[in-house]
Amino acid sequence: MEEKKRILSGVQPTGNLHLGRYLGAIRNWVQLQDQYRCFYSVVNYHAITMPYNPAKLREQTWGLVYRLLACGIKEENLFIQSLVPEHTELAWILNCQTSYGMLGRMTQFKDKSQQVQETSKDVFISAGLFTYPVLQAADILIYKPSFVPVGKDQEQHLELTRNIAQRFNNVVGKEYFELPEPLFTPIPKVMSTADPSRKMSASLGDKHNIDLFADEKRIVKQIRSAVTDSGEVAEGTMSPGVENLFNILKEINPGKHSDFLEDYNKGELQYGVFKTGIADCLLEYLQPIRERFAEISSDKKSVRNRIKESSREIQKVATQTLREVKEIAGLI
Ligand code: TRP
Repeated sequence: MEEKKRILSGVQPTGNLHLGRYLGAIRNWVQLQDQYRCFYSVVNYHAITMPYNPAKLREQTWGLVYRLLACGIKEENLFIQSLVPEHTELAWILNCQTSYGMLGRMTQFKDKSQQVQETSKDVFISAGLFTYPVLQAADILIYKPSFVPVGKDQEQHLELTRNIAQRFNNVVGKEYFELPEPLFTPIPKVMSTADPSRKMSASLGDKHNIDLFADEKRIVKQIRSAVTDSGEVAEGTMSPGVENLFNILKEINPGKHSDFLEDYNKGELQYGVFKTGIADCLLEYLQPIRERFAEISSDKKSVRNRIKESSREIQKVATQTLREVKEIAGLI
């Protein structure tokens, strides 16, 4: 049997799992599992590049694991980065094939170091934040994937990964690493419900994002209070808030989306009815995910054991790559 092509991606255990993250990434990860051999990592080593709290990190790491499983990620495809320490050893080797200049040009580094400067009293920009993309390159290359599903914001890190792989290949005089391709899938642009000019994100604050696992009342309230008319809008164009709600509805219930769009086009759309409709559709759409989450939550300990086990299985692939890398790189 021909082996399936491989995919690797990672997600940081920071912030909540909101609708933008789900529709933009996780839903796609779930679908890719049929076609590819998938490696999905909760990248907790990346999460400590910014100021953090250890107890909270542990909780958020497992919390994200439960949520990803509830969304439909298979246990055997999911692992925790720190349980596969080979990533960090490969990262060291790759660090030595990465130039200081390249890292300094990474926009995520520039953004995040600025964020640290603006938000903390004790400004501390870690070397880990600077070399973050090298660890990411190691995460990827250690599984020799053909594709890496990521958002556009990670394009630069993927390009760097390819540069590092190429340079490593040149140094060892062998086309050892295949250069992985980013996999950009068409994804809906989900904006904040409180400020539709900004992307829905965890860092903007609670009222800006819809947490998949919040209680029902909260979800309903959030849709109800979503901004619709935000000031001046040119004749014949939809306001950004209304457009955002339509975009969300299109993803979760295309039939209802067409119905409401028809009303809108006839000038008969009532926002109250529209919002209640969306809230109902959303809860219906999320029901299986939320039910699975409740099941998982009642049996956390065994889920944790199984994820430790899948991490050990996945580690075997990483160990093999690292062994080969050290061999060809002259590391005894
Ligand atoms: N940097 C990615 C992000 O911020 C997370 C990440 C870490 C990742 N390692 C990865 C993504 C490997 C894809 C592949 O979203």
